[in-house]
Amino acid sequence: MDYVKVERLDNGVAVLTIDRQDKLNALDPQVVEEIGQNLLELQSEGPHAIIITGAGERAFVAGADITAMRGMDALEAKRFAEIGHAAMALLDRSPVPTIAAINGFALGGGLEIALACDIRIAAENASFGFPEVSLGILPGMGGTQRAPRIVGPAIAKELIFTGRRIKVEEARLIGLVNHVVPEGDALKAAKEMAAQIAANGPIAVQHAKAAANRALDVDIISGLEYEADQFALLFATEDAKEGMGAFVEKRKAEFKGR
Ligand code: COA
Repeated sequence: MDYVKVERLDNGVAVLTIDRQDKLNALDPQVVEEIGQNLLELQSEGPHAIIITGAGERAFVAGADITAMRGMDALEAKRFAEIGHAAMALLDRSPVPTIAAINGFALGGGLEIALACDIRIAAENASFGFPEVSLGILPGMGGTQRAPRIVGPAIAKELIFTGRRIKVEEARLIGLVNHVVPEGDALKAAKEMAAQIAANGPIAVQHAKAAANRALDVDIISGLEYEADQFALLFATEDAKEGMGAFVEKRKAEFKGR
């Protein structure tokens, strides 16, 4: 474990940092494997939220490692895409909310990591783009599938086909990022949001994420049925009794995750 560090905060929030600063945190197969292994480990620990960020102030992740990809044959490229998809699925399908704290370049695979998260918070110096076609390849870590779902097909296709790099103002405008914060503050802002999430009923947050994810996968009738089931299930938890009881009794709720 060399390139990925995990910090576990007292409030149940985990911060995963990709630290390969001399290469602007570029993703070679080892980095991607480490991201996946750490996310898998976190899944079994059951944090309340996961933040993912890049080390240093220049880059979130400047993409997949072009030097490593240059030497790959088609089978190795397939394997690289597969480990990337597996790692991204652990973010996207993580039972708990995931937040990308984007502190600089989020290009190619970096943008794909951000897109696999539930929420994106970017610093003013961040920039975004899919440069893959300028290299003769395409976004292979979920970008062609997640970008259209997040910013809509027309904008996603423009970004993917042109490889154009955009700044935070445009990223905010197209709904790619939730919030823009001053340079150096992305992680702090992500921690604040994660703390707010962690203070809520954890089972409720998990069911809410599962229901919102379902909206992207199924027709609305099935989605609404799923929502009703998730809603009903929460009434069997101690947390729901505590949360609603605390409101009526005018006190702060103490959630136990049961
Ligand atoms: N893969 C491999 N190495 C990368 C990289 C990547 N995606 N992005 C940056 N690096 C390396 C550079 O090669 C350089 O290494 P070196 O010092 O050993 O030469 C180091 O990181 C610093 O990058 P550098 O290019 O010198 O910084 P810069 O400020 O001039 O430019 C970028 C920054 C992000 C604009 C530029 O590095 C870049 O275009 N990177 C590639 C982005 C990309 O195409 N990503 C998608 C890949 S599918």
